[in-house]
Amino acid sequence: MTIRAVAIGVGHYLPERVVENSEFEKTLDTSDEWIKSRSGIERRHFAAEGEYTSDLAVAAAKNALQDAGISADDIDAIIVATSTADNTFPSAATMVQAKLGMHNGFAFDVQAVCAGFVYALSNANALILSGQAKRVLVIGAETFSRLMDWEDRSTCVLFGDGAGALIIEAQEGSGANTDRGILATDLNSDGRYKDLLYVDGGVATQNTGHLRMEGREVFRHAIDKLAKTAHTALASAGLGNEDVDWIVPHQANLRIIKGTAQKMKVPMDRVVVTVQDHGNTSAASIPLALSVGKERGQIKTGDLVVTEAIGGGLAWGSVVIRW
Ligand code: UT7
Repeated sequence: MTIRAVAIGVGHYLPERVVENSEFEKTLDTSDEWIKSRSGIERRHFAAEGEYTSDLAVAAAKNALQDAGISADDIDAIIVATSTADNTFPSAATMVQAKLGMHNGFAFDVQAVCAGFVYALSNANALILSGQAKRVLVIGAETFSRLMDWEDRSTCVLFGDGAGALIIEAQEGSGANTDRGILATDLNSDGRYKDLLYVDGGVATQNTGHLRMEGREVFRHAIDKLAKTAHTALASAGLGNEDVDWIVPHQANLRIIKGTAQKMKVPMDRVVVTVQDHGNTSAASIPLALSVGKERGQIKTGDLVVTEAIGGGLAWGSVVIRW
């Protein structure tokens, strides 16, 4: 008997306020045309005053619980992937646990920036395979609008706020790659590239700081590393690019999404794309895209889904799931 971590529920939440590209034209030397053509982004959501990452995470979690038809009491562990927890500590995950009224189990955050959800899902899978948890609520939630330098046109037009949640459950599988559930994961990081994408604040400066990015340099790394990690994860499951039903990529830039799909020889009609509506929501982008992809009728039970992401660290990775 093989244990598999099978997706049983997915959900998302986006703050009410939608900000179109044209809004930035009022305060910055930028244009809708530049933002759209360089990144694929048309609009993004920004959290309201007093609305924090844990609030977004809870709303997404409730939708995922409803989708799964279970309650918070049925969950053993919560992992929140985020770089924008409400406070330095406690973790956003324990705040979510409290707000869901869940008084058992355990909760913690994973911080791997834009690769955070892939890292969190891989860790959740390990908890299930080792028997430490039967059901894990894995959330990606961010309020990157709070890290923006509104005078830096090269970054502030790219990011947005949102949350997505996925519930995985231990189920019996056959051990074959036709099983439903997580079939393989691949995680990587290389801290030599820490200066390409970082926040210039924290305990060292005693303020939150702003996001700084060498966009062109991150771009240079992205396509090769994303195609490679997806290939590695697929190969370790005994699968190839030709088996992929859906790529659900981190939504940072449409040109990176297209370049990676092209390198993997997967046509764009097999890629879930939400970047036009959400911007880059960092760790939230993949679970948001999984939820939207399911809602649109793209991702169906039995489909082979490959998620891949890269971000600050650099940290990157991939998870292969049969939905
Ligand atoms: O999610 C974590 C991982 N992050 C990423 O994957 C982001 C990766 N990088 C990217 O997505 C792209 O590099 C960007 C979208 C950030 C930038 O696109 P690019 O094609 O690499 O543009 P660039 O940085 O090379 O800038 C081109 C020009 C520059 O002007 P000069 O130096 O050529 O005169 C910039 O100053 O565009 C200028 N520029 C802008 N112009 C209008 C930069 N930002 C803007 C802007 N509006 N908002």
